[in-house]
Amino acid sequence: MKLAENKATLSFSNGSPSVELPVYQGSVGPDVVDIRKLYAQTGMFTYDPGFLSTAACQSAITYIDGDKGELLYRGYPIEQLATNCDFLETCHLLLYGELPNTEDKGKFTKLVTNHTMVNEQMQFFLRGFRRDAHPMAIMTGLVGALSAFYHDSTDINNPEHRNISAIRLIAKMPTLVAMAYKYTIGQPYMYPRNDLSYAGNFLHMMFATPCEEYKVSPVLERALDRIFILHADHEQNASTSTVRLCGSSGTNPFAAIAAGVACLWGPAHGGANEAALNMLYDIQKEGGVEKIGEFIKKVKDKNSSVKLMGFGHRVYKNYDPRAKLMQETCNEVLTELGLEKDPLFKLAKELEKIALEDEYFVSRKLYPNVDFYSGIVQRAIGIPVPLFTAIFALARTVGWIAQLNEMIGDPEYKIGRPRQLFTGSVKRDVQPLAKR
Ligand code: SDX
Repeated sequence: MKLAENKATLSFSNGSPSVELPVYQGSVGPDVVDIRKLYAQTGMFTYDPGFLSTAACQSAITYIDGDKGELLYRGYPIEQLATNCDFLETCHLLLYGELPNTEDKGKFTKLVTNHTMVNEQMQFFLRGFRRDAHPMAIMTGLVGALSAFYHDSTDINNPEHRNISAIRLIAKMPTLVAMAYKYTIGQPYMYPRNDLSYAGNFLHMMFATPCEEYKVSPVLERALDRIFILHADHEQNASTSTVRLCGSSGTNPFAAIAAGVACLWGPAHGGANEAALNMLYDIQKEGGVEKIGEFIKKVKDKNSSVKLMGFGHRVYKNYDPRAKLMQETCNEVLTELGLEKDPLFKLAKELEKIALEDEYFVSRKLYPNVDFYSGIVQRAIGIPVPLFTAIFALARTVGWIAQLNEMIGDPEYKIGRPRQLFTGSVKRDVQPLAKR
C-alpha cells in the first residue's frame, strides 16, 4: 500500500487537540484512513459493528467493485476465468498469484489428485453422527478433525507446512463432503479416483456405488467445475474474516478452516443457497408464480422478518456477476437435461423480474447474489438441498486458505483483538446473599 498525499484530520468540538491521520492507497478501490494510532493519540476507539466502513487488512487476492458488479481474482474478471479456466487453475491463481502454464498445471493437478484420500480412521468420526445430521454439522466436525492427522503440516508459521496443508485441504474437501452425503443416505463411501478430474471425481464419489459403473456426465462435470470457480473467493466476507481472525492466534490451518465452515453455514451467508431453494419450494407449494405478489408483500412487511433469500449483498449494489454466470449455467444444465421447463427455474426468473421492478428492492439496491440460482442448478445436478452449503464450503476452501496464508505471510500481522464500547454496569460491590 502507498502513502497518499491526502491526509485526514480529526478535530473535536470539546477543544481536545485535533489528530492527523495518514491515508493509504491500494492499486484500485477506496483509500483507507490509518487509525492504528488513534487510541494511543486520543484515548478513543472507532465504532463499526459489522465492519461497514472498516478495512481489516490489506490483500492482493480478490477485488470487488460493488457499484459496477465487478469481481476479479488476482486481477482476472470472474467471467473470463469461468469461461477459459478450470477450478484447479483458479486454485493455483488464488494461492500463488498467477495462472499456471501447461507444465505447472500438470504438476499442481497431480499434487492435488495424490492428496484426495483421507486417513482411513476418518470414517469412524461419521459413525458418531445421527444419519439425519445436517451435512454442515458433519463438515464442521470432520474439517477440524483433520488437525488430528496431519501433524507434519500444522505449523502455520512454516511456509512448507502452509503449502502442503493448502493442498491437503483443497484435495480432501470433496472426499469429506461426499462421505458426509453417503453417510446420510446409508451408502458405502466411494474412494477418490485419480483418473478423473477434480469435479468428475467429486461426482463419482457422490453418485457412484460399488455395484455398477458410474459414467461422469461432461455437462454436469463442467457445470460443477464452474460452480466451484464462482464460489472460490470473495474478499473479506464473514467466513474469510473468521478464518483470518481464527488463524491470527497461530492455530493450525485445519482448525482455522473449520471455523470458516461453521461461519459459512449461517443463512445470511453461505446457508442462503439452501434457504433460497426452500423459499422457492414454499412459493411453489403455495401456488407458484401467482403467489409471488403475496410473498413479496410479506418480504416488504417489516414485522414479518421474511427475506428474499439469495437477494441483497453488503458489497454488491449492482447485479452480482456470479449470479449472472450461475443463471447461464442453470440454463445450460437444464437444457442439456431436458428440464428447460423446470418450474422452479421459471419461478426464480419470474421472482427476480418482479423484484427488480419493485421500488422496495430498487431503492435498496437489492439484486440476486451468488446464492439465488446456485440451488436450482445444484438440484438439477442431483445434489440434495442440505448439501448446497457444504459444496460452497468445498469451493471456498481455496479462498480461505489463500487469505490465511497471505495474512500469516505478512510480517506485519498481529493477533486480531477488537475492542468495544462498554455499556454495562460500572464497578459495584457484591452484597451478601441475605442482602440481595
Ligand atoms: C453470501 O459478504 C460476501 O461476500 C458474502 C458472499 C461470499 O461470496 O462470501 O457473497 C456470499 O453470503 C451472499 C449473501 C447471501 N445471503 C442472502 O442471500 C440472505 C438474504 N440477504 C440479506 O440477509 C442481506 O442482503 C445480506 C445479509 C446479504 C446483506 O445485508 P446488509 O448488507 O447488512 O444489509 P441490511 O441487512 O442492512 O439491508 C439493508 C436493507 C434493510 O432494509 P431497511 O432496514 O433499510 O428498510 O435492505 C433490506 C434490509 O431489510 N434487505 C432485504 C434483503 N437484504 C437486505 N430485504 C429483503 N430481502 C433481502 N434479501
